[in-house]
Amino acid sequence: MDLGALVEDFVLKKKLSLPKESIKAILTDLVAWTKPSVEGAGIARTEKGDFTLLSPKYGEPYHSLSAGAVGECLEKFLLPSRLLQKAEKQKRVSLLDVGFGLGYNVAVAIKKIRDVNPRAEIEILSLEKELPQEVPPLPGEYRAIHERLWNRLPEFEDGGVSFKLLLGDARERIREVEGFFDAVFHDAFSPYRNSEMWSLEFLSHLKRLMGGESIWVSYTSALPVRKALRMLGFKLSSTRSVGRKRGGTKACLVGEDGIGQVESSKLETSPYALPFLDPTLKEEGIQILIDYRVRVELLKMAQGGFEPPTPRFSAGCSTS
Ligand SMILES: C[S@@+](CC[C@H](N)C(=O)[O-])C[C@H]1O[C@@H](n2cnc3c(N)ncnc32)[C@H](O)[C@@H]1O
Repeated sequence: MDLGALVEDFVLKKKLSLPKESIKAILTDLVAWTKPSVEGAGIARTEKGDFTLLSPKYGEPYHSLSAGAVGECLEKFLLPSRLLQKAEKQKRVSLLDVGFGLGYNVAVAIKKIRDVNPRAEIEILSLEKELPQEVPPLPGEYRAIHERLWNRLPEFEDGGVSFKLLLGDARERIREVEGFFDAVFHDAFSPYRNSEMWSLEFLSHLKRLMGGESIWVSYTSALPVRKALRMLGFKLSSTRSVGRKRGGTKACLVGEDGIGQVESSKLETSPYALPFLDPTLKEEGIQILIDYRVRVELLKMAQGGFEPPTPRFSAGCSTS
Protein backbone atom coordinates (compact mmCIF):
# COMPACT_ATOMS: atom_id res chain seq x y z
CA MET A 1 0.00 0.00 0.00
CA ASP A 2 1.52 3.32 -1.10
CA LEU A 3 0.32 5.62 1.68
CA GLY A 4 1.97 8.65 0.09
CA ALA A 5 -0.01 8.20 -3.14
CA LEU A 6 -3.26 7.61 -1.23
CA VAL A 7 -2.81 10.81 0.79
CA GLU A 8 -1.94 12.77 -2.34
CA ASP A 9 -5.08 11.45 -4.09
CA PHE A 10 -7.22 12.30 -1.08
CA VAL A 11 -5.88 15.85 -0.83
CA LEU A 12 -6.39 16.40 -4.58
CA LYS A 13 -9.93 15.04 -4.52
CA LYS A 14 -10.85 17.30 -1.61
CA LYS A 15 -9.13 20.26 -3.33
CA LEU A 16 -7.08 20.95 -0.20
CA SER A 17 -3.80 22.74 -0.19
CA LEU A 18 -1.58 21.53 2.61
CA PRO A 19 2.03 22.55 3.27
CA LYS A 20 4.73 19.92 2.77
CA GLU A 21 5.40 19.66 6.52
CA SER A 22 1.72 18.85 7.09
CA ILE A 23 1.76 16.08 4.48
CA LYS A 24 4.91 14.71 6.12
CA ALA A 25 3.32 14.79 9.59
CA ILE A 26 0.18 13.07 8.25
CA LEU A 27 2.26 10.33 6.65
CA THR A 28 4.36 9.80 9.76
CA ASP A 29 1.23 9.13 11.84
CA LEU A 30 -0.38 6.93 9.18
CA VAL A 31 2.76 4.79 8.87
CA ALA A 32 2.98 4.37 12.65
CA TRP A 33 -0.74 3.59 13.04
CA THR A 34 -0.92 1.01 10.26
CA LYS A 35 2.33 -0.78 11.11
CA PRO A 36 1.59 -4.38 12.16
CA SER A 37 1.92 -5.00 15.89
CA VAL A 38 2.85 -8.63 15.21
CA GLU A 39 4.31 -10.43 12.22
CA GLY A 40 3.20 -13.86 11.10
CA ALA A 41 0.02 -15.89 10.99
CA GLY A 42 -1.58 -18.86 12.70
CA ILE A 43 -1.95 -19.91 16.31
CA ALA A 44 0.11 -18.14 18.98
CA ARG A 45 0.56 -18.82 22.68
CA THR A 46 -0.17 -15.88 24.96
CA GLU A 47 1.97 -15.03 28.00
CA LYS A 48 -0.79 -16.54 30.19
CA GLY A 49 -0.46 -19.92 28.45
CA ASP A 50 -3.71 -19.94 26.47
CA PHE A 51 -3.91 -19.50 22.71
CA THR A 52 -5.07 -17.01 20.15
CA LEU A 53 -4.67 -16.41 16.43
CA LEU A 54 -2.52 -13.89 14.58
CA SER A 55 -4.17 -12.03 11.75
CA PRO A 56 -1.75 -11.28 8.88
CA LYS A 57 -4.44 -9.11 7.26
CA TYR A 58 -4.73 -6.73 10.25
CA GLY A 59 -1.21 -7.32 11.59
CA GLU A 60 -2.37 -8.07 15.11
CA PRO A 61 -3.48 -10.92 17.36
CA TYR A 62 -7.16 -11.67 18.01
CA HIS A 63 -6.46 -11.29 21.75
CA SER A 64 -3.91 -9.57 23.93
CA LEU A 65 -0.70 -11.62 24.06
CA SER A 66 0.20 -10.12 27.45
CA ALA A 67 -3.23 -10.28 29.15
CA GLY A 68 -4.07 -13.71 27.69
CA ALA A 69 -7.16 -14.62 25.68
CA VAL A 70 -9.43 -15.67 28.55
CA GLY A 71 -8.10 -12.84 30.73
CA GLU A 72 -9.10 -10.34 28.08
CA CYS A 73 -12.59 -11.87 27.64
CA LEU A 74 -13.21 -11.62 31.38
CA GLU A 75 -11.53 -8.35 32.30
CA LYS A 76 -12.18 -6.26 29.21
CA PHE A 77 -15.62 -7.51 28.30
CA LEU A 78 -17.66 -9.74 30.59
CA LEU A 79 -16.92 -8.21 34.01
CA PRO A 80 -17.29 -4.52 33.07
CA SER A 81 -20.47 -5.31 31.10
CA ARG A 82 -22.23 -6.30 34.36
CA LEU A 83 -23.95 -9.15 32.52
CA LEU A 84 -23.23 -11.45 35.46
CA GLN A 85 -24.97 -9.14 37.94
CA LYS A 86 -27.91 -8.82 35.55
CA ALA A 87 -28.08 -12.61 35.12
CA GLU A 88 -28.39 -12.99 38.90
CA LYS A 89 -31.51 -10.82 38.89
CA GLN A 90 -33.08 -11.13 35.45
CA LYS A 91 -34.75 -14.09 33.76
CA ARG A 92 -33.22 -13.14 30.41
CA VAL A 93 -29.96 -11.45 29.41
CA SER A 94 -28.97 -10.37 25.91
CA LEU A 95 -25.62 -9.66 24.29
CA LEU A 96 -24.67 -8.04 21.01
CA ASP A 97 -21.22 -9.39 20.13
CA VAL A 98 -19.45 -7.25 17.53
CA GLY A 99 -16.54 -9.25 16.07
CA PHE A 100 -17.22 -12.94 16.81
CA GLY A 101 -13.67 -13.95 15.78
CA LEU A 102 -12.76 -17.19 17.55
CA GLY A 103 -15.97 -17.10 19.58
CA TYR A 104 -14.03 -16.75 22.83
CA ASN A 105 -16.02 -13.83 24.22
CA VAL A 106 -19.28 -15.65 23.51
CA ALA A 107 -18.18 -18.99 25.00
CA VAL A 108 -16.77 -17.35 28.14
CA ALA A 109 -19.95 -15.28 28.56
CA ILE A 110 -22.23 -18.33 28.24
CA LYS A 111 -20.16 -20.37 30.71
CA LYS A 112 -19.98 -17.65 33.35
CA ILE A 113 -23.64 -16.62 33.04
CA ARG A 114 -24.63 -20.28 33.41
CA ASP A 115 -22.50 -20.50 36.55
CA VAL A 116 -24.33 -17.61 38.23
CA ASN A 117 -27.80 -18.53 37.01
CA PRO A 118 -28.35 -22.00 35.50
CA ARG A 119 -31.89 -21.04 34.47
CA ALA A 120 -31.23 -17.65 32.83
CA GLU A 121 -32.30 -17.33 29.21
CA ILE A 122 -29.26 -16.14 27.25
CA GLU A 123 -29.74 -14.43 23.92
CA ILE A 124 -26.65 -13.65 21.85
CA LEU A 125 -26.34 -12.07 18.42
CA SER A 126 -22.85 -12.01 16.87
CA LEU A 127 -21.56 -10.07 13.89
CA GLU A 128 -18.54 -11.27 11.92
CA LYS A 129 -17.12 -10.51 8.49
CA GLU A 130 -15.01 -13.62 7.98
CA LEU A 131 -14.61 -16.70 10.15
CA PRO A 132 -10.99 -17.79 10.69
CA GLN A 133 -9.64 -20.98 9.06
CA GLU A 134 -8.25 -22.40 12.28
CA VAL A 135 -9.57 -21.96 15.79
CA PRO A 136 -7.52 -22.93 18.84
CA PRO A 137 -9.75 -24.47 21.54
CA LEU A 138 -10.41 -22.57 24.73
CA PRO A 139 -8.83 -24.22 27.79
CA GLY A 140 -10.35 -25.97 30.83
CA GLU A 141 -13.85 -25.06 31.91
CA TYR A 142 -14.62 -23.20 28.65
CA ARG A 143 -13.55 -25.90 26.21
CA ALA A 144 -16.81 -27.87 25.94
CA ILE A 145 -19.03 -24.83 25.45
CA HIS A 146 -16.61 -23.37 22.91
CA GLU A 147 -16.55 -26.62 20.92
CA ARG A 148 -20.34 -26.91 20.98
CA LEU A 149 -20.67 -23.32 19.80
CA TRP A 150 -18.41 -23.91 16.79
CA ASN A 151 -20.11 -27.21 15.90
CA ARG A 152 -23.47 -25.48 15.70
CA LEU A 153 -22.75 -22.25 13.83
CA PRO A 154 -24.40 -20.16 12.50
CA GLU A 155 -27.33 -20.47 14.90
CA PHE A 156 -28.88 -22.66 17.53
CA GLU A 157 -31.33 -22.73 20.37
CA ASP A 158 -30.58 -25.08 23.20
CA GLY A 159 -30.59 -25.28 26.99
CA GLY A 160 -31.85 -21.72 27.39
CA VAL A 161 -29.26 -20.29 24.97
CA SER A 162 -30.39 -18.66 21.77
CA PHE A 163 -27.45 -17.82 19.50
CA LYS A 164 -27.26 -16.34 16.02
CA LEU A 165 -24.27 -15.31 13.92
CA LEU A 166 -24.77 -12.74 11.15
CA LEU A 167 -21.94 -13.16 8.66
CA GLY A 168 -20.77 -10.30 6.45
CA ASP A 169 -19.68 -6.70 6.93
CA ALA A 170 -21.10 -5.66 10.31
CA ARG A 171 -21.80 -2.20 8.86
CA GLU A 172 -24.30 -3.77 6.48
CA ARG A 173 -25.74 -6.47 8.75
CA ILE A 174 -26.29 -4.10 11.68
CA ARG A 175 -29.12 -2.45 9.74
CA GLU A 176 -31.26 -5.57 10.13
CA VAL A 177 -30.74 -5.87 13.89
CA GLU A 178 -33.56 -4.68 16.13
CA GLY A 179 -34.41 -4.54 19.82
CA PHE A 180 -32.35 -3.71 22.89
CA PHE A 181 -29.35 -5.57 24.28
CA ASP A 182 -28.16 -5.60 27.90
CA ALA A 183 -24.56 -5.46 26.73
CA VAL A 184 -22.57 -4.75 23.60
CA PHE A 185 -19.08 -6.29 23.32
CA HIS A 186 -17.25 -4.21 20.71
CA ASP A 187 -14.26 -6.37 19.79
CA ALA A 188 -13.10 -5.49 16.28
CA PHE A 189 -9.39 -5.18 15.56
CA SER A 190 -7.77 -1.99 16.79
CA PRO A 191 -9.27 1.33 15.70
CA TYR A 192 -6.34 2.48 13.55
CA ARG A 193 -6.13 -0.83 11.64
CA ASN A 194 -9.86 -1.58 11.43
CA SER A 195 -11.27 1.98 11.44
CA GLU A 196 -14.46 1.10 9.55
CA MET A 197 -15.68 -0.66 12.70
CA TRP A 198 -15.23 2.37 14.94
CA SER A 199 -16.85 5.26 13.08
CA LEU A 200 -19.38 7.68 14.54
CA GLU A 201 -21.98 6.27 12.16
CA PHE A 202 -21.37 2.62 13.07
CA LEU A 203 -21.37 3.46 16.78
CA SER A 204 -24.65 5.31 16.33
CA HIS A 205 -26.19 2.07 15.02
CA LEU A 206 -25.01 0.34 18.19
CA LYS A 207 -26.54 3.13 20.27
CA ARG A 208 -29.87 2.49 18.50
CA LEU A 209 -29.79 -1.02 20.02
CA MET A 210 -29.15 0.12 23.58
CA GLY A 211 -31.52 1.19 26.34
CA GLY A 212 -30.93 3.07 29.59
CA GLU A 213 -29.51 0.00 31.35
CA SER A 214 -27.36 -1.23 28.46
CA ILE A 215 -23.58 -1.18 28.69
CA TRP A 216 -21.14 -0.96 25.76
CA VAL A 217 -17.64 -2.25 26.48
CA SER A 218 -14.40 -2.46 24.57
CA TYR A 219 -10.69 -2.94 25.18
CA THR A 220 -9.80 0.31 23.44
CA SER A 221 -9.27 3.77 24.89
CA ALA A 222 -8.47 5.36 21.52
CA LEU A 223 -9.36 9.05 21.34
CA PRO A 224 -11.40 8.91 18.09
CA VAL A 225 -13.59 6.16 19.58
CA ARG A 226 -14.09 7.90 22.92
CA LYS A 227 -14.82 11.17 21.13
CA ALA A 228 -17.47 9.51 18.92
CA LEU A 229 -19.09 7.91 21.98
CA ARG A 230 -19.12 11.27 23.75
CA MET A 231 -20.65 12.99 20.72
CA LEU A 232 -23.39 10.33 20.72
CA GLY A 233 -24.23 11.22 24.31
CA PHE A 234 -22.63 8.28 26.10
CA LYS A 235 -21.23 8.56 29.63
CA LEU A 236 -17.73 7.09 29.66
CA SER A 237 -15.50 5.38 32.14
CA SER A 238 -12.22 3.48 31.92
CA THR A 239 -11.97 -0.23 32.57
CA ARG A 240 -9.06 -1.91 34.33
CA SER A 241 -5.75 -2.24 32.56
CA VAL A 242 -4.80 -5.90 32.03
CA GLY A 243 -1.38 -7.20 31.00
CA ARG A 244 0.57 -4.47 29.24
CA LYS A 245 -2.60 -3.13 27.66
CA ARG A 246 -4.06 0.19 28.72
CA GLY A 247 -7.50 0.22 30.26
CA GLY A 248 -10.47 -0.06 27.95
CA THR A 249 -13.73 1.88 27.79
CA LYS A 250 -17.21 1.36 29.17
CA ALA A 251 -20.07 3.51 27.85
CA CYS A 252 -23.67 3.90 29.08
CA LEU A 253 -26.49 6.20 28.10
CA VAL A 254 -27.41 7.15 31.67
CA GLY A 255 -25.40 7.75 34.83
CA GLU A 256 -22.30 9.71 35.61
CA ASP A 257 -19.33 10.29 33.36
CA GLY A 258 -16.35 8.79 35.18
CA ILE A 259 -13.58 9.31 32.72
CA GLY A 260 -11.44 11.57 34.90
CA GLN A 261 -10.32 15.12 34.37
CA VAL A 262 -7.16 14.52 32.36
CA GLU A 263 -8.94 12.31 29.85
CA SER A 264 -11.94 14.63 29.71
CA SER A 265 -9.86 17.66 28.90
CA LYS A 266 -7.97 15.66 26.28
CA LEU A 267 -11.34 14.86 24.67
CA GLU A 268 -12.14 18.58 24.62
CA THR A 269 -8.84 20.04 23.52
CA SER A 270 -6.67 17.56 21.61
CA PRO A 271 -6.80 17.99 17.83
CA TYR A 272 -6.74 14.17 17.70
CA ALA A 273 -10.06 14.02 19.53
CA LEU A 274 -12.16 13.76 16.37
CA PRO A 275 -14.34 10.82 15.41
CA PHE A 276 -13.73 8.52 12.45
CA LEU A 277 -16.38 9.32 9.83
CA ASP A 278 -18.02 6.86 7.43
CA PRO A 279 -21.32 8.48 6.32
CA THR A 280 -22.18 5.77 3.75
CA LEU A 281 -20.97 2.93 6.03
CA LYS A 282 -19.14 1.60 2.99
CA GLU A 283 -15.81 3.44 2.99
CA GLU A 284 -12.46 1.60 2.97
CA GLY A 285 -10.75 1.60 6.38
CA ILE A 286 -7.63 3.32 5.05
CA GLN A 287 -9.70 6.14 3.50
CA ILE A 288 -11.49 6.67 6.84
CA LEU A 289 -8.11 6.89 8.53
CA ILE A 290 -6.67 9.33 5.98
CA ASP A 291 -9.79 11.52 6.22
CA TYR A 292 -9.44 11.51 10.02
CA ARG A 293 -5.75 12.42 9.99
CA VAL A 294 -6.29 15.19 7.44
CA ARG A 295 -9.07 16.70 9.60
CA VAL A 296 -6.69 16.52 12.58
CA GLU A 297 -4.10 18.41 10.56
CA LEU A 298 -6.59 21.09 9.53
CA LEU A 299 -7.59 21.52 13.16
CA LYS A 300 -3.96 21.74 14.27
CA MET A 301 -3.38 24.43 11.66
CA ALA A 302 -6.49 26.32 12.77
CA GLN A 303 -5.29 26.09 16.38
CA GLY A 304 -1.99 27.63 15.28
CA GLY A 305 0.01 24.47 15.86
CA PHE A 306 -1.06 24.23 19.50
CA GLU A 307 -1.00 20.73 20.86
CA PRO A 308 -1.58 19.91 24.52
CA PRO A 309 1.01 17.76 26.28
CA THR A 310 0.90 14.14 25.12
CA PRO A 311 -1.97 12.69 27.09
CA ARG A 312 -1.57 9.42 28.87
CA PHE A 313 -4.05 6.95 30.26
CA SER A 314 -6.00 8.14 33.28
CA ALA A 315 -7.39 5.71 35.82
CA GLY A 316 -10.96 7.07 35.46
CA CYS A 317 -13.77 5.25 37.19
CA SER A 318 -13.86 1.62 38.19
CA THR A 319 -15.12 -1.27 36.09
CA SER A 320 -18.01 -2.02 38.39
C1 LIG B 1 -10.21 -9.07 17.72
S1 LIG B 1 -11.08 -10.10 16.67
C2 LIG B 1 -12.45 -10.64 17.65
C3 LIG B 1 -12.13 -11.66 18.71
C4 LIG B 1 -13.39 -12.29 19.27
N1 LIG B 1 -14.25 -11.35 19.92
C5 LIG B 1 -13.12 -13.47 20.16
O1 LIG B 1 -13.49 -13.42 21.34
O2 LIG B 1 -12.55 -14.46 19.71
C6 LIG B 1 -11.86 -8.95 15.59
C7 LIG B 1 -12.88 -9.54 14.66
O3 LIG B 1 -13.55 -8.46 13.98
C8 LIG B 1 -13.86 -8.92 12.70
N2 LIG B 1 -14.14 -7.79 11.79
C9 LIG B 1 -13.27 -6.86 11.32
N3 LIG B 1 -13.90 -6.01 10.47
C10 LIG B 1 -15.20 -6.41 10.42
C11 LIG B 1 -16.35 -5.95 9.71
N4 LIG B 1 -16.29 -4.90 8.89
N5 LIG B 1 -17.53 -6.59 9.91
C12 LIG B 1 -17.61 -7.65 10.76
N6 LIG B 1 -16.55 -8.15 11.43
C13 LIG B 1 -15.35 -7.54 11.27
C14 LIG B 1 -12.61 -9.69 12.29
O4 LIG B 1 -12.88 -10.57 11.20
C15 LIG B 1 -12.24 -10.42 13.58
O5 LIG B 1 -12.80 -11.70 13.62
